[in-house]
Amino acid sequence: MGADMVTSEKTGHKITEIYSPEQIQKRIIELGQIISQDYKSLENPVVIGVMKGAFCFLADLVRNINTDDPLQMEFVRLSSYGSATESSGHVHTPYLELPNISHRHILVVEDIIDSGRTAKFFLDYLTGQFQPATLKIACFLDKPSRRVVEVEPDYVGFTINDLFVVGYGLDYAEKYRELPFLGELDLGGG
Ligand code: IMP
Ligand code: MG
Repeated sequence: MGADMVTSEKTGHKITEIYSPEQIQKRIIELGQIISQDYKSLENPVVIGVMKGAFCFLADLVRNINTDDPLQMEFVRLSSYGSATESSGHVHTPYLELPNISHRHILVVEDIIDSGRTAKFFLDYLTGQFQPATLKIACFLDKPSRRVVEVEPDYVGFTINDLFVVGYGLDYAEKYRELPFLGELDLGGG
């Protein structure tokens, strides 16, 4: 077994590394530089992290963004998956409390854009509630081959094929978020 394959002793799941912690950090530094240029002189930008999946990406990304005005950080919690690997099609909003951020420059930070339903729902919600001056989305991962509704992320960490991935914030049935790398989960047909 290579160093890039992990088998969870508790669950028996095989997880094969796709991106190492070093590759992830390298990419996030690049993204941070691009976002810093774009947001450098914007007035009071707001970053909204979408929990739970974005927590690792968000924490690393914002520490690589450097703007004239400090960032305001907000959090929401959205989910569309339940505990399965297929989207339910419904976006749940377990936590959607935001202060008045009308007409601000808003950057949404997501873990992954899959069908696009979660992102589309949230972008439409923010547009309706706050008429943002600008509204962009940064995602750690993009799975464009799975898109059901049209969403074009502005900043993408990595574009991946139609794989089910875990680690670095992403879960399978609430497991494996803490893995420091991104891995493909082999469900063994089950
Ligand atoms: P969408 O609404 O279909 O774009 O789904 C977005 C949400 O589905 C993400 O925020 C994730 O929580 C979850 N998701 C989609 N693909 C994966 C995956 O490969 N691994 C883990 N979670 C995923
Ligand atoms: Mg999930």
